[in-house]
Amino acid sequence: MDAPLSFSALRQQSVYQLLFECNPLPMLVYQPDSSRVLFANAAAASCYGHSVQELVELHFYEIHHAEDWPILQESLKLRPEQRTQNSWRQLDSKGNVIHVELETQDIDLEGKHARIVLIRDVSKRHQSELVRKALADRHKAVVDVSSDAIISTDSEGHIQTFNPGAERVFGYKAADVYGKSCCQLLPERFRAACAPQLAAYARSADGDPRVMGLQLLKGLHADGHEIDLECSMAKVIVGKNQVLISILRDVSERLAADVERQAARTQLSHLTRRLMSQEKDLVKRIARVLHDQLGQTMAAIRLVHDSMAALGNGQTSNELQRLDFQLRSLIDQAIRQARVVLVDLQPPLLEASGLVAALDNEMRMRAMRDKSMDLVFDVAPGLATQRWESSCEYAVFMIAREALENAVRHSGALKLVLSLSGDATGLTLAVQDNGRGIQPGAASKLGHLGMAGIMERAKSIGATLEIGPCDNGGTCVRLHWQAQA
Ligand SMILES: Nc1ncnc2c1ncn2[C@@H]1O[C@H](COP(=O)(O)OP(=O)(O)OP(=O)(O)O)[C@@H](O)[C@H]1O
Ligand SMILES: [Mg+2]
Repeated sequence: MDAPLSFSALRQQSVYQLLFECNPLPMLVYQPDSSRVLFANAAAASCYGHSVQELVELHFYEIHHAEDWPILQESLKLRPEQRTQNSWRQLDSKGNVIHVELETQDIDLEGKHARIVLIRDVSKRHQSELVRKALADRHKAVVDVSSDAIISTDSEGHIQTFNPGAERVFGYKAADVYGKSCCQLLPERFRAACAPQLAAYARSADGDPRVMGLQLLKGLHADGHEIDLECSMAKVIVGKNQVLISILRDVSERLAADVERQAARTQLSHLTRRLMSQEKDLVKRIARVLHDQLGQTMAAIRLVHDSMAALGNGQTSNELQRLDFQLRSLIDQAIRQARVVLVDLQPPLLEASGLVAALDNEMRMRAMRDKSMDLVFDVAPGLATQRWESSCEYAVFMIAREALENAVRHSGALKLVLSLSGDATGLTLAVQDNGRGIQPGAASKLGHLGMAGIMERAKSIGATLEIGPCDNGGTCVRLHWQAQA
């Protein structure tokens, strides 16, 4: 076994030399006055990519980046306790920049002023700091350009960051709100509840970081006016501290526009309902005039004409007989035309016998006119005598009539099924053909008003309506109406 080294042996110069040369930390000694490197160990040589011999032939400033020379020059003049700079950019043998931290100690070397330098290569740490800083800069840029207010607070709600978006939304400068409670950004009446809510959110289970989801709340602008905000919250741990992040969007204008749009829609639907009921009354009046007055007048003309013909006892010229025949045909034609208009205006049987009877009649009349299509009226049992509100019966009949007319005119179908089901509290009407199907967008063709009428009539009675393809490929118009409770 080797004998232990004695302290006196350690003091021998060769041992100190060994400690310097074999030290795993890069070290060198230079002369501040001349800047000449006097000694360098193997670790320093490997750090700079030079040989030890090459290093000791250099000046200390030669291993520094030229941009650091002015500070180095100043630093060389300073006493050890005055030197503050310890991070430097240096160059290896290939001219690559290495980032180092230097620990220095001034020594007296056989009467000459020298400086021993311990070199720590921190290039990797420097590189990762650069990456971290770039990432942080990118995040900051995203937060800064966001038009949304992004505010971070501690778990008690004290504001820590307030982005330019928040400055715009709330009208405060970030510097004026740092450290203050974010509850101050709400109108007075919401402040008391704000702090406990934040605390509850901060304490809540960590599973979903967006526990508070998206919600609407009121904010208070610096000038005192209230703002509608859409808010989502998240909580994260930064270091050891919990940070609450609120993202707030000013939706005041959007909400105001929504309210306006809703009001316009309500007004429009009131107007439609009024127009529909006026239409029904007007149609009734015209029908009454046609039936009771024009119809009666024509019947009277016909009677008078027949009496005149009887008075003549057949003693009239051929020309008069021809005119007489023509007049009789015209009167008959006028009576027929008035009847057709009457049927169109006032659906037969609807008022007196109800929707089922009127639809049944409509289908029969259609079947007599259009032989090319198989028309089926499928009505649920027990509905034959069922009555619904008169406005509902009228609208549903007119919708069925237009859907029927469309199927005949546009579908090319061979079969059409009109089905009606329901009970006293509601009804479902379906008009299904097996034709070519309705093209997307066809229902809103400019200048074609049938579909628009169907939709308006459905809306006016509060019914839901679907127009689209059937399972068998044709077109299906389906309406569901429910009586108001
Ligand atoms: N059953 C159907 N099958 C195929 N296409 C249809 C059907 N019903 C409607 N369409 C298409 O939808 C379009 C719009 O129908 P809409 O009833 O609004 O107008 P129209 O029937 O052409 O004219 P009108 O104003 O006289 O009703 C039709 O022109 C047609 O192209
Ligand atoms: Mg039509």
